[in-house]
Amino acid sequence: MYLIAPNFSDLMEPNIEFKTFPDGDSYVRINVIDKCQGEDVTLFHRLYPKQNTAIFNATQILHTLKRVGARVTLVSPYLPYSRQDKTFLMGESLSAQVLCKLLNDFGTVKLVTVDCHFLKKEGESEYSNLKIQNISANKMLVEHARKKVGLEPLEIISPDQGANYLISEFGGKSMSKVRGQYDSTSGEEAYRSVQKVEREFDVEGKTILILDDMISTGGTMIKAVENVKKGGAKKVFCAATHGFFLNDSLDKLRKISDGVFTTNSIPNPVAEVDLLPLLKGPF
Ligand code: R5P
Repeated sequence: MYLIAPNFSDLMEPNIEFKTFPDGDSYVRINVIDKCQGEDVTLFHRLYPKQNTAIFNATQILHTLKRVGARVTLVSPYLPYSRQDKTFLMGESLSAQVLCKLLNDFGTVKLVTVDCHFLKKEGESEYSNLKIQNISANKMLVEHARKKVGLEPLEIISPDQGANYLISEFGGKSMSKVRGQYDSTSGEEAYRSVQKVEREFDVEGKTILILDDMISTGGTMIKAVENVKKGGAKKVFCAATHGFFLNDSLDKLRKISDGVFTTNSIPNPVAEVDLLPLLKGPF
């Protein structure tokens, strides 16, 4: 049985009802619940944007399914909180663990997700007792870039060592990134700015694709594009699995690069690569 949340409606026809009570509480109804009784159910539900509401909605759906004995595989292409798998200051929450524990406790048999930040490899793993199948969009993104550049040779690089797993199979090289401490001037926002991106290989005259798992504030990708352009690259494309493009980062990247694109894990104006073929299973 497939269950599709309304926040997946750009990819599939929804069959779960979401409403809001007058006070703002979420109302969720699975009107095909009779078909889920004791069944294996695949639930397609995005956990981003509006992650805190989307996560609560997921627990409402999972709890409802658990009550009728369904076994649920949750398909959520982007896993929020996945960058909070480490702490930097004493007393910080390990939010990646919190989320995975929550999904497991509410009955998720398996989470299927794409380029999960803390896994950095494809295949099945377990994290905080949650079974996770991590799929990579790297081949689709590289194929898309190759269509854009035609017959020109394309060098694929990553802006930091963490994204090396995305590019290593294409013989790519990684730059390295230095982040600062939490910015004390950014008020209530917890943000560690990107201080620099360094490169120890030559890019002069080359056509480059910079590939990362996500473009969030764009801090990383903007510094990476500037670096390779300064190094004399002929053309620079940038791509990521997940594109948030916070603030005006998409405009900036469009101005300084020869092209920017992502998958549709998070809807955005340059979500050119369709993930659906990867998400349909079987898992
Ligand atoms: C971090 O290590 C990730 O792989 C990305 O490089 C990072 O999260 C991108 O964030 P931003 O766009 O805010 O620099």
